[in-house]
Amino acid sequence: MSSRLQGKVVVVTGAASGIGRAVTEESISEGARVVAADLNAVRLAELAEAYGADQLLPVEVDLATAAGTDRVIAAATEAGGADVLVNNAGIMDGFVPVGEIDDERWAKIIAVNTTAPMQLMRGVLPHMLEKGAGSIVNVASVGGVSGGASGAAYTASKHAVVGLTRSTAFFYGPRGVRCNAVCPGGVTTNIAEGGAVPEVDWAWERVRAGLGRVQRQAEPGEIASLVLYLASPQGVNVNGAIIASDGGWTAA
Ligand code: NAI
Repeated sequence: MSSRLQGKVVVVTGAASGIGRAVTEESISEGARVVAADLNAVRLAELAEAYGADQLLPVEVDLATAAGTDRVIAAATEAGGADVLVNNAGIMDGFVPVGEIDDERWAKIIAVNTTAPMQLMRGVLPHMLEKGAGSIVNVASVGGVSGGASGAAYTASKHAVVGLTRSTAFFYGPRGVRCNAVCPGGVTTNIAEGGAVPEVDWAWERVRAGLGRVQRQAEPGEIASLVLYLASPQGVNVNGAIIASDGGWTAA
């Protein structure tokens, strides 16, 4: 067993399921204490049952609100300050193109996928800058670099995350804070429980035509291992990188 994150405080959003859960478990096994934020009370309680308070601090929260992200930042401060932030929570958009988006859905997807990551980055930076060290890993998507993998809102929200990642790397890298993004392709998680059902037939046909390029479905741990690499000192020279973990989808 290695201990790449021994003594570190790692904040993970969307920690109760899928990629976030795998990142949480791997971080704990590498010696970290995880501030685990999620909306799903049942799954978060299941996760919390498996670990002691010295390993996991669960925060049941809706990241779509500023009050929610404030609570996560407060929990990170209570735990001693975040050494690592993994912005992972995200929701899909029914593959709806721009001509058919309603404002409410747009606002929700941008709030969860883009604004919450920005607010959390802003919230953890003072501690990281004081220490002169920190690593932020944003879970974007193939939809963060391509227009044909999801609907307009999700695509825009994840492209914004890619831009935030590069900007943060540029401004704060010289002060010891690295910021990178991973772009998963298809991963077997619970994401299909919300927003994954195609809602506009002709738009879905367009997306589906490109899915032949998807070479394999990944397991959450396969994404988590890349996140851990970037979060840990192993990734010391990687800053501002947007890294696909998609089995070759975007290479096709
Ligand atoms: P998941 O649905 O299994 O896990 C996401 C977690 O985020 C859930 O536990 C959910 O409760 C939580 N969450 C959602 N909205 C929230 C909110 N408002 N406040 C707090 N927590 C909230 O999904 P998965 O696949 O593990 O997704 C993780 C990230 O990976 C997302 O950002 C997603 O966009 C991204 N991704 C996933 C892909 C996939 O094929 N599964 C592909 C590309 C990117």
